[in-house]
Amino acid sequence: MKITVIGSGYVGLVTGACLAELGNHVFCLDLDQQKIDLLNSGGVPIYEPGLDAMIARNRDAGRIQFSTDIQAAVDHGDIQFIAVGTPSKEDGSADLQHVLSAAQHIGQHMSGYKVIVNKSTVPVGTADQVKATINEVLSETNRVIDFSVVSNPEFLKEGAAIDDFMHPDRIVIGTYEDDAGCQAKDWMRKLYAPFNRHHERTYYMDVRSAELTKYAANAMLATRISFMNELANLADYVGADIDQVRQGIGSDARIGYGFLYAGTGYGGSCFPKDVRALVQTGNQYQQDLKILKAVESVNTTQKLILVRKVVNRYGDDLKGKTFAIWGLSFKPNTDDMREAPSRMIIKELVGRGAKVQAYDPVAMKEAQHCFNLDFRESPQNLEQITLCETMLSALKGCDALILITEWKEFRSPDFTQLKNSLIDSVIFDGRNLYEPNEMTNFGFEYYGVGRCNS
Ligand code: UDX
Repeated sequence: MKITVIGSGYVGLVTGACLAELGNHVFCLDLDQQKIDLLNSGGVPIYEPGLDAMIARNRDAGRIQFSTDIQAAVDHGDIQFIAVGTPSKEDGSADLQHVLSAAQHIGQHMSGYKVIVNKSTVPVGTADQVKATINEVLSETNRVIDFSVVSNPEFLKEGAAIDDFMHPDRIVIGTYEDDAGCQAKDWMRKLYAPFNRHHERTYYMDVRSAELTKYAANAMLATRISFMNELANLADYVGADIDQVRQGIGSDARIGYGFLYAGTGYGGSCFPKDVRALVQTGNQYQQDLKILKAVESVNTTQKLILVRKVVNRYGDDLKGKTFAIWGLSFKPNTDDMREAPSRMIIKELVGRGAKVQAYDPVAMKEAQHCFNLDFRESPQNLEQITLCETMLSALKGCDALILITEWKEFRSPDFTQLKNSLIDSVIFDGRNLYEPNEMTNFGFEYYGVGRCNS
């Protein structure tokens, strides 16, 4: 099929590449000329395992192209995916300006029936707004053209996005029930047919339910995390081990094991933004979403749990102390630093006078960029941060290690070497990567999250 993807960011590129891999002809549009130039010269603007090879393969096969030409983009695709950013506004609600401007472009340039698919995470009611925007453009220009809007949210995890797209648990498709909507449903069924060969994975529903499904999924996962973080903090005081509790409850099939890991709080481009946006949707309808407000508030506190532990150990004044930081991205296998706990933790540590020596396997460039922003009003604090080339060099001369992101290479370090490198042999493990007993046997003073030590 002929597909256009508007927005060549994270979701757009993964969607475009995977649909091309399935044999479709994909046109990726972006208004950022630099990004398109980079893509056309063989580069990929984001780090996502497997994406560069998939794009190269499909470019060579003539199944994917990148351009800033809006007219050509709208002409190309029978199905037009909107995959542009929906950042948070100051009040937490989703900013739809890019989505609606894409809708306007489609309305201006289309000349025959199109299926317009909302892939961006958008609040309930956005499909109606996209439809209204296109209708407005058509009536202003005295054209009558049939089209239909579909809601088809993505459930891609950064770092595993290609696998998630190619092996989906489910595909959610929300359509309108009129004739144009029936045709749209038919086209979407054909597009996703390769995923339904063994059994049906697609859930067809009305557009509003599809829009809410996306938020419900992320809000539920965020809730599980905040719930476990709250219990972990209690576990520290009552002398229980949250990891044993995790296994004890996860074994109940009704609960399951996923997303029950306590840690330094959730970050990234989705959970924080989506939880806030859902709370705002509630406000819009005078519905006070109390659970989700608590989820957000627990998470904000949790991002500083390691700082609390450091302060309990070393006192509030950290002058003269140097901490090694392992892991900066909001989670492993990505260079994404959006709402990463490391940013708040480092800000607090250097604010109390500490120096930090930080290492991340892939996010160093992105981290430097974010720290420049975070410390633009206190450049003297920025000087207290050293970005190191290896995990071992980050340890040199440090009092203690603070592990923030659970990259695989941090799982089994040489603990003897680690102990010899640190002045105090203290580990603050924000992801419960290590076993407390083993660490004690190695002679470390070990602080996990919810592992019997506050
Ligand atoms: C998430 C959803 O999983 C995905 O379906 C949606 O499309 C986009 O948002 P992503 O943001 O890539 O994906 O990250 P995810 O792997 O879900 O992790 C989110 C955050 O939760 C990370 O900060 C992670 O460290 C944290 N987390 C996850 C925990 O703290 N504990 C857990 O048990 C799981």
